Amino acid sequence: MKVNTAEFIISNSDVKKCPKANMPEYAFIGRSNVGKSSLINMLTDHKNLAKISGKPGKTQLINHFLINKEWYLVDLPGYGYAKVSKNLKSGFSKIIYSYIENRENLVNIFVLVDVRHDAQQIDLNFMEWLNGNGIAFSIIFTKADKLSKRELANNVEAYKQQMLIRWEEMPHYLISSSTSGMGKEELLNFIEETNKTVSK
Ligand code: GTP
Ligand code: MG
Repeated sequence: MKVNTAEFIISNSDVKKCPKANMPEYAFIGRSNVGKSSLINMLTDHKNLAKISGKPGKTQLINHFLINKEWYLVDLPGYGYAKVSKNLKSGFSKIIYSYIENRENLVNIFVLVDVRHDAQQIDLNFMEWLNGNGIAFSIIFTKADKLSKRELANNVEAYKQQMLIRWEEMPHYLISSSTSGMGKEELLNFIEETNKTVSK
């Protein structure tokens, strides 16, 4: 899929004030600083559509972007940033959970994890919560450009092994880099295919 138009629509902290839920929606979720906002900019070929920062805690609201006037991409605050929220269901996490539990047009969640790190408990807990609630998700390994090819393959394999301790199979996943553009086509194609399965 080609992204022809990408428009910022609205930011807010209340799921009730999100745009009308009449188009398929995809949300980027993960720890602060993992690269959610950067990935949105990379996918849409915009430098500053979503606000990014080297400091964790940049995105503080639910941000809706309308793509090709057909579907929404949503940038969310990060979870697990100690200064912002101490435990999973407080602070920003409340916004995230309330959004996920109430947003009826949400088709798939992308759980972003930094490919340089081991599986983090907070991410594993979050994915288990999604699974327990029957919510479809994919894992996106971010910042692939920071590793060599070999390190990248090793880290993804190690992550898979960690997942397989608790999961019967590895959930759907993609590997991305917002600086090199890696994963862009694959992710946009996945969304295109998924959109086709959603009744209008
Ligand atoms: P919060 O909004 O704080 O939750 O963070 P976020 O997940 O939106 O992360 P953001 O996109 O703001 O990126 C955090 C930092 O990581 C910035 O300094 C980005 O430039 C950097 N970054 C993000 N993605 C990549 C990537 O793929 N490669 C590299 N090298 N740096 C990245
Ligand atoms: Mg952000």
